[in-house]
This record gives sequence, structure tokens and C-alpha cells, in this order.
Amino acid sequence: MDKLRITGGRPLNGEVTISGAKNAALPEICAALLTADPVHLNNVPRLRDVATMRLLLDNMGVQTETHGERGGMSFVAPDSLNPEAPYELVKTMRASVLVLGPLLARFGRAKVSLPGGCAIGSRPVDQHIKGLQAMGAEIVVEHGYMVAQLPQGRSRLKGARIATDMVTVTGTENFLMAAALAEGETVLENAAQEPEIPDLAEMLIGMGAKIEGHGTSRIHIQGVDRLHGCTHQVVADRIEAGTFLCAVAATGGDVVLRHGRADHLDAVIDKLRDAGAEIEVGDGFIRVRASGRLKAQSFRTTEYPGFPTDMQAQFMALNCIATGTSKVTETIFENRFMHVNELVRLGAKIQTDGKVAVIEGIDRLQGATVMATDLRASASLVIAGLVAEGETIVDRIYHLDRGYDQMEAKLRGIGADIERIK
Ligand code: UD1
Repeated sequence: MDKLRITGGRPLNGEVTISGAKNAALPEICAALLTADPVHLNNVPRLRDVATMRLLLDNMGVQTETHGERGGMSFVAPDSLNPEAPYELVKTMRASVLVLGPLLARFGRAKVSLPGGCAIGSRPVDQHIKGLQAMGAEIVVEHGYMVAQLPQGRSRLKGARIATDMVTVTGTENFLMAAALAEGETVLENAAQEPEIPDLAEMLIGMGAKIEGHGTSRIHIQGVDRLHGCTHQVVADRIEAGTFLCAVAATGGDVVLRHGRADHLDAVIDKLRDAGAEIEVGDGFIRVRASGRLKAQSFRTTEYPGFPTDMQAQFMALNCIATGTSKVTETIFENRFMHVNELVRLGAKIQTDGKVAVIEGIDRLQGATVMATDLRASASLVIAGLVAEGETIVDRIYHLDRGYDQMEAKLRGIGADIERIK
């Protein structure tokens, strides 16, 4: 199993190119199921989750291809395919549930494994099921699978008003894709506003969908008979950019992020500025400069445009070596502090109580062997390793490979002493 060896204490300087967003690319690959025409995506990040999603579509009978160095991918989903997502693939990636909406909308049936337990919380899919049932789908859960079909005599889902109990990102995406091909109008209340949603909506509009209000909490979709192919550029990964911003804020240095979307990172950038980092934003770039210990910042994770849960662990690593005490409250997932014990192994002073962590900033961390437990926790441990004294080994980095495009190569390019070991 691969590990990362990091020797801490080096400032980061130079330029990094931000890749396409994992959380936009995954639903956009699934959107290719909505048409028999070719769908081309550009700027798809090279990640394990993308490879898994591709495998999932390959397995159904979709023709998939990658081309060029710039993350080009093409998909052709024929009129007849096997609309099933087996447990072996779904268990490694919860986002597999994103095939459910498009399969039902175009083929009228789907069999998708339940995602099962997940390290950061139970993460049920009840809202996905309820929403699609409101659109007329018959869904039963049997033998660990969601088995969905249209009622006898119906060939399309029907538009509905869907008000979810909580804001759900992949839920909103499933409904958007399903509603695009449904009969009549769908209104999504309490819709997620994460930038990946308008990016998916723009792609669907490029395929002929009629959507209004994306990027707000109420989205109107007027269903159409058929969608056609498109070419779409995947939006930049705000979480990758935020991770590099936190890394530079922690180590000190001066780094320009190319293709970074600062307008998608307001909550994180505000906190970094309050901490004392200098951040300059321009058209397609974000420049971050920092030196010495920054000031610790308290925050609560919330839905977009609030502070993203996907940045909580990385910012906590920065708080560990900042001056002062901070309070971090996780409101989205119930078990998202698994990095805390590992940060403590590096010398951090953190106490948790339920969904609150209190971090007392200390002068320096000390290198040690730590274990990655989930995707963003891994990134937090890498940041901690970059500032810790001596050598840090981060074990189980397959979590990191799920969601970061060549992270260690990008970090090496800006001066980090980091290497992958087998
Ligand atoms: C997406 C992101 C993930 C991010 C999360 C929150 C993708 C592929 N993943 O995950 O990186 O951390 O949004 O920003 O885009 N819930 C239910 N029932 C449901 C659906 C959700 O109870 O049917 C709960 C979840 O357990 C969680 C909360 O709602 O507590 C938000 O989850 P959700 O927004 O659905 O997360 P994902 O879409 O899985």
C-alpha cells in the first residue's frame, strides 16, 4: 500500500495548476447517460473516483474514452444498456448513487447498490429515494439494492415539487438530471447551491435541458423529450484550491494557483485573511502569501456559501500551529473528526466533544507515522506533515488518490519535500 514520506519545515513557493472538480466531474459523467449522442468533457481530473465512475459506466455498456493531456473524456450511452450499479463498485464511492436519476429518466429502470456505511457518517440516501418516488418512480430496497422502475404503462418520470428535509448536494444533482427528461415541470425547493450544481445545470442546458434558478435554493426544470450531446468544461476544483491555500498559509511562502476560482471560496479566503494570510485574486488565479504563525480562526461548517465541510480538516491543521485557541464546529456530517487523533499523534492539542473541536495552537508539530482515514482527513495530515519537524509518514493514501489529482507532484513542484513510497 502506498505511503507518503514528508520532511516538514520548507516554505512553498511557485505556481500550481488547479484541476477540474471531482464533485462536478462525477455527476457530469453520469449526465452522459441521458443521451445516446456523444458527450465530451474537458478538464476531468485524473483521480481514482473518476476511474471508478468510468468503470461503472463501462460495466453498463457505455463506450468511454479518454483523450489528450487536458483531461478529455468522451461517452456514448447507447439506447440499450444494462442499468445496474453493482455493490463492488458502489461500495468504494458513494457518488455512484448519481447514476440512479439519469438511468430512471432515460431507461425507466435502474438497480443501484446502497452505498453502505461510510467513514464520515451514515450518509443515507433516503432523500434521493423520496424525491424520485415523488416523480413517479417505484423504488424498493431489496438485498442491499435500490430497485427502481416506472409504473406499468408509463414511459417517463413526471415533474414534481421536491422539498428535501435537508440540503443534499448529490440529491439535488440526481433530481436535476431526472427532471431534465421528465414530463412537465419539477421544482426543487431547498436545493443545494454548491458551485458544482450550476456547473452541472449549465452542462444539461448545453444538452437541451430547460433549467432556471440553478445556484439558488429553488430550481425550476421544464422536462424535455430528449437531450442531445454536448462538450463541457469541468469547473475548477474549489476544494483542491482551498487545500493548497491552507498548505501555503501553514508553511509560509508565496504561491499562485492557476485556474483557481476565488469566487467559489469566499468563506475560506475570508478566514485565511483574518488569520493573516495575504490573498490576491484575479481573473483565473489566486495568489497566497504568508509568513510566521498565523492567528487561529473559529468556524462552523455549513452548506454553500458557508464554510465547506470538505475544507474543515485542512483548516484545522492550520489552526493546530496558529497562535491562539479556536473552535471548529462540524454541522454537516456526524463523524468527521477522524483526523483529530492523527493530528494529536503529531503533537497537536485538540479536544473534541460531539460536533465541536477545540484546538489550542502550539509552536510546532513533530513528525510521526499517521494514517489517512478519509479523503479530506488525508489532505489535513499532508498539511500537518509539511509543517512538522522531521519526517512524517502518511499511511493509507489511497484515500488521497480518490480525490486529489497528483497532489504530491504538485506539492513537490512548489518546493515540498514529499515522496510516494511503496
Ligand atoms: C457531497 C460531496 C461531498 C461533500 C458533501 C457536503 C459529492 C460527490 N460529494 O456529498 O464531498 O462533503 O456533499 O458538502 O459531491 N443526507 C441524508 N439523506 C440523504 C442525503 C443526504 O440524510 O438522502 C444527509 C447526509 O448524511 C449529510 C447531509 O445530508 O449529513 C448532507 O449530505 P449530502 O449533501 O447529500 O452529501 P453528498 O451529496 O453525499
